[in-house]
Parts: sequence; structure tokens; C-alpha cells
Amino acid sequence: MSNRRTFAIISHPDAGKTTLTEKLLLQGGAIHLAGEVKARGQARRARSDWMKIEQQRGISVTSSVMTFEKEYEGETITFNLLDTPGHEDFSEDTYRTLTAVDSAIMVIDAAKGIEPQTRKLFEVCRLRSVPIITFVNKVDREGRPVFELLDEIADMLALDVSPQMYPLGMGGQFEGILDFASGKVARPEGPSKEFAGQRDDNVELAGEIAENVELAQIGYPEFDLEAYRNGDLTPVYFGSALKNFGVEELIDAIARYAPPPRPQPAGEEQISPERDEVTGFIFKVQANMDPNHRDRIAFMRQVSGTFKRGMKLTPSGLGKPIAIHSPILFFAQDRELADTAEAGDIIGIPNHGTLRVGDTLSEKNQVRFTGLPNFAPEILRRVVLKDPTKTKQLRKALDDLSEEGVIQVFYPEIGGQWIVGVVGQLQLDVLVSRLEAEYKVGASLEASPFATARWLKGTDAALKNFEDFNRANLAKDRDGDLVFMAKSPWDVGYQQEKNPELTFSATKER
Ligand code: G4P
Repeated sequence: MSNRRTFAIISHPDAGKTTLTEKLLLQGGAIHLAGEVKARGQARRARSDWMKIEQQRGISVTSSVMTFEKEYEGETITFNLLDTPGHEDFSEDTYRTLTAVDSAIMVIDAAKGIEPQTRKLFEVCRLRSVPIITFVNKVDREGRPVFELLDEIADMLALDVSPQMYPLGMGGQFEGILDFASGKVARPEGPSKEFAGQRDDNVELAGEIAENVELAQIGYPEFDLEAYRNGDLTPVYFGSALKNFGVEELIDAIARYAPPPRPQPAGEEQISPERDEVTGFIFKVQANMDPNHRDRIAFMRQVSGTFKRGMKLTPSGLGKPIAIHSPILFFAQDRELADTAEAGDIIGIPNHGTLRVGDTLSEKNQVRFTGLPNFAPEILRRVVLKDPTKTKQLRKALDDLSEEGVIQVFYPEIGGQWIVGVVGQLQLDVLVSRLEAEYKVGASLEASPFATARWLKGTDAALKNFEDFNRANLAKDRDGDLVFMAKSPWDVGYQQEKNPELTFSATKER
């Protein structure tokens, strides 16, 4: 079985993703945290290669993929942690990254519970039944009652929860965390009350805490590997990323339960990670920060085979093979075969725009991965040209940039005001600056009456009928597919109810 675990962290800003990432990297022997960990030998070379690329290209890849290793039950497990950009760089890439992982950790702030962004990201995971381990963070501070949190996760996400630990008090009363599997308690030590690494064996619990611990164990479903792997049940861990509690248990849980690379859908077929041929798909393309440079890094999730530096692969969008001479491989620390990558690994491929989001790369050019969707935009804007004679250039640019995955474009059935859609504000800034720099098109963005969009599916007759009555709210995307432009989420629900013969889809296969 593969020793790879490729995963992402989903959370709302401020829940502690960055702090937890740092702790995971420190616990595992990570090399990829520039400045944090002393690099040696191969590791040093890999790191400096990388930073050179970053400098030359102005593309920050440092945190895109973080690799670390840890021994678990006599085996070395390699973890690939994929960054899910949040805060101001939240974008469709954040969603698409979740299509390139085999599992996720959901970090929740113990004082806040499920927050909007966590929920959105969770829904994206659910689309592909990505298994989720929950980490309730910040138990060193005053938080909400444990059972309230567990029930909220279960109710809001319609998911079975199976607690694997219990925090003995929170905030000022915090005395440590009981791990059900080992029966041991990790206790805070020293002036800053960090976890020192010793676990207390002979735990006598009394009173209310003893009762609650019992209730947590018998009142919720037992852990069931199959239900977890199907995305129906989440094991719940508690801890403090800041004080280093529960982090080791969390890594062990990923090593033990999280799935190794899963087969990936390619039409009717499932491509197994055991296949000899190297295959993979592009889930993200990062453009140079400096819009005058067209350099890009395309991120490929490897699905099968053993990749070697210099290998020739054929991108589905191009049809002819390209040699991959200077890939960015995100190595783990002590790997001997540092020039190869396996199923589950991520490879960064420098290019000048030949590689697009959704492309398949393969040796034989016979496989096409499917299932990498576009996601319904959450911000929609009208594009207003500064120079009206540039309509043709604008159309070309919008088609290109939507093809590349930067934005989505919608051409309304009535009127000539083109609309762009994104899931994060930053994408709009990128759009305006790239229009200007690469296409010499000056444009501004104005409010649009629409809040989101849904791809329509149904019989020709049903679509035609809907079209006749709703032309003012319909548009075509870059492929000419029919899209319902909704003024609010409520609008979507209302129309879906009124038109049960149509589906209003929040995603579209690329
Ligand atoms: P994010 O990436 O999810 O946005 O969160 P990040 O790790 O940056 O953490 C957000 C804030 O929460 C930070 O505090 C961080 O120190 C704190 N934090 C993270 N984990 C824990 C925890 O387990 N316990 C406690 N008590 N705090 C935690 P900040 O004051 O916003 O930033 P900083 O000044 O500490 O960097």
C-alpha cells in the first residue's frame, strides 16, 4: 500500500490553520518551511532550487505544497499537505485544491463552532466524498461546551461524529486532553503551559468529567473506517495548535485512517494509482505576480506511475508531448530518490501558458480525467470597457482567462453587458491587471444585479420552455452552456421548486 497521504486543511480564517500547519511540519521532519528548519544535503539543494525559481518568476510556491514525513508503526509515511488559500486570496483555486486531495482536516475554533467558510469548503469536500478528520482547536481557551460543538458539527453538516478524545476542562480550567485510544492524558506544563511530550497514564477521573467522558464515548457512534472513508463519519480530535496539544494524535490519525491515493475518475473508467503509466491532472495554475511576465507554474496532482525528471508527458489540451525538464518536486527530507515522484505527489511545472486547469497529463495520451469542476461564482461583476472599440479583444481575453481558470464569464442572452464571476475578490484584481498588461484592454468592473449562477440541465423541451420565460436571467458560459443568473440564493431555490424537471447545478465539469 502507498505510504502517501495527500490532504488539505479546511477552516474559517483565524481558526488556527497556519498555527496547526507549523506544528504539523515541526513534528514531522519537514524541510519546506523556509527559515524554520535547518536544511541538509539534498534538502538544502531542493530548497534553494525552489527559492531561485520563486525569485526568477515572482511566483510564490513555498506554501503551496508542504511535505513531511513521520514514522508510524514501523513505516515511514509521507504527508503532502496542500495549501487552501484563505483570507484575501480565497478563490476558485481553494475549491479546486480540494479535488486534488484524498482527505481533509477540518479545523474548528472551539469558541465558534462551524463558521461560513468551513461550511462552504466542507460542501466542496462532500461533492467528492472526501473523508474528513475534525480538529477542534483552541481548547486552552474558554470554548463552547463539548457536546454542543459535537452536535453542531453533526447537525449543520449532516455527518456522524465520533469523538476520539475529551478535553479535561477548557480555558482556565484546562487540565489536559484524554485520548480514548491510549487512555492517556496529555497535560500542560511550564509557565506557558505547553504540552511537554509526557503523557500521564494513571488517570483517575471523577465527578462530572468522568460522566462526560463516558457520555462522549457511548453517546456517539463508534469510529467506523468505512463510514469515514465514504465521507459519512468524522472522527473528532481536540487540541490546541498553539500549545501543541493533540497534534501528534492528529498526525497519527491521518497516518492510520486517511486513505492513500485514491483512484481518479476518467469518464467511465477509474484510473488506479497502481497503473504503470504516469498520469495526472492540473488543478491549479499560478501566474507570475508581475503581469508583464507570462511565466506560470501549473500544479499537477499525480494519479499513477513513477515520474522522473525530464520525462515527456502529453497535456490533453495540446496533443503533443512536452519534456518536463525543471519540475518542482516537493520532496520530503530524507528521500534518496529525490528526482522521482509517485501517485499522490504534486509536481509544479513551469510553463508559458500551455498548461490549463483541468488538463490531463499522461505518457500515452489515452486518459482524460473528469470531475474537476467549475464552481458557481459567489461574486458577479459587469465588465465595462474604457474603449468601446476593443470589444473583440475583450471577448478573446475573457474567453482565455476563463479557460485558464482565473474567472468565469457569462454572456447574457439579452443585452451586451458581459459578466464575470469569481469566488474571491482577489481574482477580480488579477483580472483587471491581466486585461491591461497582457491584452492591452482597459476595463473596469461594476456591480451586477446577480448574486450567483447555476448551470441548467434538462431535456431540450424543458430548457426551451424555461428559456422563453426567463430570458432576462439567462446567459451562456464560454462553452455556450445555458446558465441561470440568480439575484439571490433564494431565487435559485424558488426556481428549482417551480421547475422540478430542470437541475440547477452549482458545479460544472470542465
Ligand atoms: P488561520 O491560519 O486559520 O487564519 O489562523 P492562525 O493560525 O493564524 O491563528 C489565528 C489566531 O489564533 C492567532 O492569534 C493564533 O496565535 C491563535 N491560535 C491558533 N491556535 C490557537 C490555539 O490553539 N490556542 C489559542 N489560544 N490561540 C490559537 P493572533 O493573535 O491573531 O495572531 P498572533 O499574533 O498570535 O500571530
